[in-house]
Formats: sequence, C-alpha cells, structure tokens
Amino acid sequence: MSVAHPPLRAVLLLFGLSAACLHAQAAPTGAAVFARCTPCHQTTGVGIPGAFPPLAGSSWVTGPVDRPIAILLHGLQGPLTVSGASYNGMMLPYGTGVAMTDAELAAVLTYIRTNWGNRASPVTVADIARVRAKTKGRTKPFSEAELLALR
Ligand code: HEC
Repeated sequence: MSVAHPPLRAVLLLFGLSAACLHAQAAPTGAAVFARCTPCHQTTGVGIPGAFPPLAGSSWVTGPVDRPIAILLHGLQGPLTVSGASYNGMMLPYGTGVAMTDAELAAVLTYIRTNWGNRASPVTVADIARVRAKTKGRTKPFSEAELLALR
C-alpha cells in the first residue's frame, strides 16, 4: 500500500501530530528550552564575541557535567576563559532565580552537550538533583575557580 487513501493519510497525520504534542507536554524538549538562551548565546551556540561566550566547542559545556549544571542552578560571575577568549560578565541562575524544572534543565543541558559538533554525555534529572543537593544553601554565583573544583 504505497499510496494511502487520502482520508486515511489525514487520519494518520493527525494521529502523528497529537502523539508529538502529547510527547512535548510530557517531556520538555531541549530545543524548546534552549530558546531562553538564544538572545545571548545565539541559536547556533556561537555567542557574541566579547559579550556572550560560545557554547559550541566550549569545554565548560562538554566537560564534567557538574559544571554546566552548577552554572544554570546558581549563575556565573566572570572573569572566565572560554575557548581561549576571556569574558568578564555575569549570567543569572535558572535553577533558583528564574523557575526552571529539573526536567527542563536536564533537557537543555543535553541539547547543548550534543549539538553544533559537541559530543558529550546526556544529562539526567538525577544529575540535576545530585548537584542541587551538593550545592544546597548556596546563594552566590559560581566563579571560574569554584567551577574548576567541581567534578
Ligand atoms: C542574558 C544573557 C544570557 C542568557 C539568556 C544565558 N546566558 Fe549563559 N552566559 C552568559 C554570560 C554573560 C556568560 C559568561 C559570564 C562571564 O562573562 O563570566 C554565560 C556563560 C555560560 C556558560 C559557560 C561558558 C560557556 O560559554 O560555555 C554556559 C554553559 C552557559 N552560559 C549556558 C547557558 C544556557 C544553557 C542558557 C539558557 C538556559 C544561558 N546560558 C542563558 C549570558 C547568558
């Protein structure tokens, strides 16, 4: 049955679309959550030279998973070296300041670790919970030295 009957095709299409919508509700997709990061880091993860560091090719993104989790949970205060370039800005936290669920954090971190040539392991909700527990009570953003001490 290579050419489906048109009404049947429509039914199959609707079925596929609603299944996709249900899925999106159940689990946030990394691409959707990443829309919150693109004003600064850009849709292709290249950032803006001198202002917003790149996520593509960044060892902060692809290195030990606790580091990017800590950045999202508690924020980051420069100075910070990313791929050999120096930045001295500040990124606000998403885990405590702006509400983001652990599922959204895991999805967006998995997305940035596996796109634009980045090849690192996915991030799970259990990883987020572990770093939340480990950094509990923290009220300050992370510095570069503190991030490097995390592994
Ligand atoms: C309002 C701008 C802004 C937004 C939105 C933003 N960031 Fe950042 N981000 C920054 C700045 C600025 C730095 C570097 C801070 C510094 O200069 O030390 C940074 C640094 C980082 C770093 C570490 C450095 C690097 O490039 O690897 C990661 C990882 C990161 N951001 C991920 C994210 C993710 C994921 C999101 C979305 C959930 C996000 N950021 C949203 C501004 C932003």
